[in-house]
Amino acid sequence: FQLKPDSVVEAISALPGVITFTVNRKLLVQIFEVFLCCSSPNIAKKFHAGHLRSTFIGNFIANLKHSLGNRVIRMNYLGDWGMQFGLLGAGFGKFGCQQKLKQNPLQHLFEVYVEVNKEAEHNEEMKLAAKDFFKQLEQHESEAVSLWQQFREITVHEYEHIYKRLGVHFDIYSGESQHQDQAQKVVQQLQTQGLLKTSEKGTGVVDLSPDGDMSSFCTVLRSDGTTLYITRDIAAAIDRKRKYHFDEMIYVVRTLKTLHVYTDKANKSTKHIPGMKTRTGEVVFLEDVLDEARTRMLNNMSQSKTTKEMDDPEDTAEKVGISALIVQDFKGPLQSDYKFDWDRILQTQGDTGVFLQYTHARLSRSGSFISNSIFIFQIEAVRYDEVLYQSAQDLQPKHLVNFLLKLSHLIASAHRELPVKGSAPGVAQARLRLFSRAHSVLANGMRILGITPVDRM
Ligand code: ARG
Repeated sequence: FQLKPDSVVEAISALPGVITFTVNRKLLVQIFEVFLCCSSPNIAKKFHAGHLRSTFIGNFIANLKHSLGNRVIRMNYLGDWGMQFGLLGAGFGKFGCQQKLKQNPLQHLFEVYVEVNKEAEHNEEMKLAAKDFFKQLEQHESEAVSLWQQFREITVHEYEHIYKRLGVHFDIYSGESQHQDQAQKVVQQLQTQGLLKTSEKGTGVVDLSPDGDMSSFCTVLRSDGTTLYITRDIAAAIDRKRKYHFDEMIYVVRTLKTLHVYTDKANKSTKHIPGMKTRTGEVVFLEDVLDEARTRMLNNMSQSKTTKEMDDPEDTAEKVGISALIVQDFKGPLQSDYKFDWDRILQTQGDTGVFLQYTHARLSRSGSFISNSIFIFQIEAVRYDEVLYQSAQDLQPKHLVNFLLKLSHLIASAHRELPVKGSAPGVAQARLRLFSRAHSVLANGMRILGITPVDRM
C-alpha cells in the first residue's frame, strides 16, 4: 500500500475494490484574502493611458481571484496630497471658477493646474502662495482643507461615474492624504530599528542594497524634515496590513521604482504587477476615450448589414467598444507597448474584443432554444480551468484572452461544420450542448476580463 496521506488528502483507506480518499475539509472552507490596489489617478493631473491600463488589469486580477474563491478588497489609492495641492489651491483663487468646477470638475481642475504651473514658472509670488497653501493643508487649517476636500469629493464622484461605465467598482477610495501623519511615525520606527541613515545631503535614507554598501537606497525624508510620496506609501502599506489582515497584497502600478523593493520589505506578501509603459504624449481624459470608443462603434454598427435590432444601441456600442479596448490591452504581455489604432482594434474579424462579443451574441441567439442540458460537454471546460490557473500564476490576462479568441474561432468553424438544423435528433442535441457549453465558458471568461457580454449586436 504505497499511497500516503498528506496535507490535502487527510486519510486513505481501502476495502476490496474500493479506495476511499478523505480530503482535508479545512482547505475547502479556508478563504484567502487578497488586497488589490489599482487605477489610482492623481486628482490634480490628468488620468492617462497608464491609469486606464492599471484599471483594466486591476479589475481583471480582482475578478480572477474572486472567481477562484478568494475574498478580494479593491482599493483606489488616489494621488490626493502633496505639493500639487499647494499649487492647485493657490491657483484656484486666481484661475478657478466654482461653476466650472461643478460642471466639469476633472477638466477644470486640470486647466487650473496647467495655468498655475505656467504662472509659477516665472512668478515667485505664485510659488510662495502655493507653498503656503500646502503648509496650511499640512497644518489642517480649515479653509484650505475644505477647498481641498471639495476638489477630492467632486473628483471621486466623477470618477465613480466613469468607472461605472467601465464596469469597475472599488470597495475603498483611499489616498495619500490618509497617511500624512503616519508617515512621520514610519520615519521614527525606521530610526528605532536602526534602519534610517543620514546622507551627505542631509536627507534620511534607507539602505536597500544586498551588501549594505548603499549601492541602492530609498529616500524617505527630505532635508527639511518633510516626508515624501514613498514615505506615505510605506505608511499606507503598514496601515493596510494592520486593518485588513489580507494574505496577499497586489499593487498594479505604472512603473517599477524603489517603491517595489521597499514595500516588499515592509510586507513579504506584496506583489507588484510591473511594467505598464506608456508613451509620453498619450495623456487623455478617460471619458473622452470611452466616448470615442462608443461613437466609433455606433458608427460601425450602423454601417454593418448584419447588425440586429436592439433596444439600446448606445449601450451595446459602449460595451463592445470597451471590450475592444480591453482585448487590445490584454493580448500581449503586459510589459509590451503597442501602437494604438482605433480601426484595427474595432475590427469585427480577427483577434478583437468585437469578435468575442460577436461570437457571444451569436451563441446567445442559438442558445435561446436550448433546453436544460443535463450532460454538458466538458472538454473545453477542462482546458478553461487550466487557463484560469495559468493566469492566476503570473497574473497575465493574455492566457485567458488568447484562449477565448481561439475558442471563438473554433466556434465559428463549428457553426459552419456542425449544423444543428437538419441533423438527426441525437446529433442535434449533442451539438446544441456543445454550443451551450461554449457560450457559458465564453461569457464567464469575458466577465473575468472585465467585459460585459452582449446578447445582440
Ligand atoms: N497615483 C500614482 C500615479 O498616478 C499611482 C499610485 C500607485 N499606488 C501606490 N500605492 N503607490 O502614478
